[in-house]
Amino acid sequence: MALAQENDSVTQFSGRTEICYGDNAINTLETLKGNHAFIVTDPFMVKIGFADRVISGLERAGISQSVFDKVEPDPSLETVQKGTVQLLADGADMIIALGGGSSIDAAKAMMFFACKADPTRKKPRLVVIPTTSGTGSEVTAVTVVTDTEAQLKIPIIDPLIVPDVAVLDARFTRSVPPSVTASTGMDVLTHALEAFVSTRANAFTDLYAVHAIQYVFRYLLRCYRNGDDMEARQNMLLASCMAGMAFNNSGLGVTHSVAHTLGGIFHIPHGTANAVMLPYAIRFNSFDVRDRYRTIAKKLELPCDTVEQGNESLIEAVRWLNSQMGIPGRIRDLGVSEEDFSNAIEAMAGHAMEDACTTTNPRRPSKRDIRQLLRQAY
Ligand SMILES: [Fe+2]
Repeated sequence: MALAQENDSVTQFSGRTEICYGDNAINTLETLKGNHAFIVTDPFMVKIGFADRVISGLERAGISQSVFDKVEPDPSLETVQKGTVQLLADGADMIIALGGGSSIDAAKAMMFFACKADPTRKKPRLVVIPTTSGTGSEVTAVTVVTDTEAQLKIPIIDPLIVPDVAVLDARFTRSVPPSVTASTGMDVLTHALEAFVSTRANAFTDLYAVHAIQYVFRYLLRCYRNGDDMEARQNMLLASCMAGMAFNNSGLGVTHSVAHTLGGIFHIPHGTANAVMLPYAIRFNSFDVRDRYRTIAKKLELPCDTVEQGNESLIEAVRWLNSQMGIPGRIRDLGVSEEDFSNAIEAMAGHAMEDACTTTNPRRPSKRDIRQLLRQAY
């Protein structure tokens, strides 16, 4: 995940994106320099007027624009190809991604393929306006495209696709319903907690991860209970971005490895899968990084007189947060039958072992370990 190449004696941290946030963050668009912007979004963003809000900002900056509004959830290779063709034909010098993880992923992939198709052309500036607080994609070098025919998720990790500008304006997240606020918010917590205990965690990723964790515990429930609480919305948007900064440099862990396969096989939303798995993964890792978990418990002012108590408190706190937002404690409560689960467990363990996130997990798992972890969570 990290931009820096791994090197035993050198630790690197990279944060290239210009982050603009605050009450009127969207006004940043009026200050951009460019000729033509290619806006990548989905039909809902057009319908509720968010795309218009972006267009008027660009017009005030004297930037012409075209809109690609055909991004679907889990963007397909086909959609990305269509967008890339249009992007190349338009000759845009700026790409604006407006939406949740899918639109941002699609825009990053279009830029990647456009640059590969025509290496002589200057890389367009990538400006990202997230409308959910979850992926942290506005600052990461990662995108995922789905090959629907082969039923394959294709990850692309390349410094080229790190966004140049992230505009964090909480008004764009106001339309997110409570269930999505809950699952995307738990994705943020998982990014930050996994970054903090990752084998590649460092002094800088720790700063971002700890702050993001504290913000999630302070503001996620407020967002869930009252979607119009703009202070909470803004701070969850910052938490999401900070967690992105952390994991883009440190990598993630087994919670994500297992969540990826649960999503692939049972179509469980990414954040929900992470939320359910997280307490089990903390217990799974605690032998190796129990002092780190205790540090987090301490930062959250949870009981942590002993290391054991700190670990238990953290697990309990995550469970409690889930329960307050209607997220179940077990995979069986997500509509996965015992038979389907048993039939899939071998494949899931295999996928999780191969997942890139497993390489930075603090405890090196065996396939048997993953099977056991899955059974416990079921
Ligand atoms: Fe995630």
